[in-house]
Amino acid sequence: MAAIIVEKSDRLEGTVQASGSKNAVLPLLAATLLTDEPCVLGGVPVLKDVEVMCRLLGCLGAEVEGDRAAAQIRVRAKAIRTNVAPPELVKSMRASIVAMGPLLARTGGAGVPLPGGCAIGDRPIDLHIKGFRSLGAKVETGQDENGGFVSAEARRLKGAEMYLDFASVGATENIMMAAALAEGTTIIENPAQEPEIVDLANFLNKMGARIRGAGTDMIRIEGVEKLHGAEHSVIPDRIEAGTFMLAAAITRGSVLVDNMLPNHVVPIIAKLRETGVYVREEFGGLRIDATRGTLRATDIKTLPYPGFPTDIQPQFMAYLATVLGSSTVIETVFENRFMHIDELNLMNAGIEEKGRRASVPGEAALRGARVRATDLRAGAALILAGLAAEGKTTVSDIYHIDRGYEDLTGKLKKLGAKISRL
Ligand code: EPZ
Repeated sequence: MAAIIVEKSDRLEGTVQASGSKNAVLPLLAATLLTDEPCVLGGVPVLKDVEVMCRLLGCLGAEVEGDRAAAQIRVRAKAIRTNVAPPELVKSMRASIVAMGPLLARTGGAGVPLPGGCAIGDRPIDLHIKGFRSLGAKVETGQDENGGFVSAEARRLKGAEMYLDFASVGATENIMMAAALAEGTTIIENPAQEPEIVDLANFLNKMGARIRGAGTDMIRIEGVEKLHGAEHSVIPDRIEAGTFMLAAAITRGSVLVDNMLPNHVVPIIAKLRETGVYVREEFGGLRIDATRGTLRATDIKTLPYPGFPTDIQPQFMAYLATVLGSSTVIETVFENRFMHIDELNLMNAGIEEKGRRASVPGEAALRGARVRATDLRAGAALILAGLAAEGKTTVSDIYHIDRGYEDLTGKLKKLGAKISRL
């Protein structure tokens, strides 16, 4: 069974490049369904989830060709063969749900199996459905031989005003893409404000959409008749960059994280500085210098952007287990994103979990152990803990990690990590 072996490593040093953002490229790929003209995406990361999304586009009738060397994907959805997404693909990747908005807008209908919940929560899609219904679609959910499904139809979507009860990233993306071809104006109140939302709006506007306010607390979309092809470079992955920032911190190293946008990781910079790590901009990237002084506890609370990102919570928790003093970690975005605590405690982290609050005592003498990645970011957290733990750590179920990190072991090894894949 594939596994990643990590041993206690000296302080990491050197330069590491972030790849293109997983959580930007997936909706960007879905957006190519909105036009019959060719689109080209550059700076695309090589990830399992990108492969799945490309396979999904192919099943729906799009021509997809990837050029790994150029980190480019060309998509042309000249004709949509079917607007029903295949169950096996959707079940393997929840993010497939963002194909629904483009299919509905382009073909007047969409059928998508209900995305399975996953380790971090049941992850409903009620806000996606609320959005489509606000735009005038008839949306039904039901059960069939493949399990739950959601179907929507609308001859022509009509712009509407709507409020998202939670600033859901996926729902904001789905509604924005559907509204781009609706008749009239759509206003989304309390949308997600993540950089990935802004990247998607920029791509849609290049395609001829008229979207204003992405990245703020209100998005305004003037529907248009048709969208044309466009080229776009994916933004760097702020969560991958944050993971490398924490790899430097947990090993007390000094690393330059390059090809990233510092203004996308403000909460991570702030919290690392609160623990005593030196962070400063250098050549357009970030220098993370944890070689000096004693690093101390701080508290984190995850929130929708621009709050502290939930996708960095597990990795930051692993780091907090190694600093002086006790920290509190509160997870407000997902109801079950503490699965990594049991695994970290197998490594002697001594973390206590009470509902959405975890207490990290700090100064843990982490010990290598056999641990399991319960989700993508938990897997990354266990690798980071392994870098600081005495002895050898074996991380299994690493398929989670391959979904969202491009060559994580290779990149860490280049920084001096003692890490290998079985
Ligand atoms: C996106 O997931 C990201 N995935 C996640 O990254 C990220 O953790 C999450 O946003 C929050 O930032 C991609 O972009 C592919 P949500 P998404 O809809 O869109 C509730 C990673 O590790 N909710 O913002 O699924 C939901 O239950 C992954 O890269 C509803 O209640 O996240 C959850 O508690 C993990 N109803 C919260 O909102 C809805 O209709 C956040 O979900 C939709 C969501």
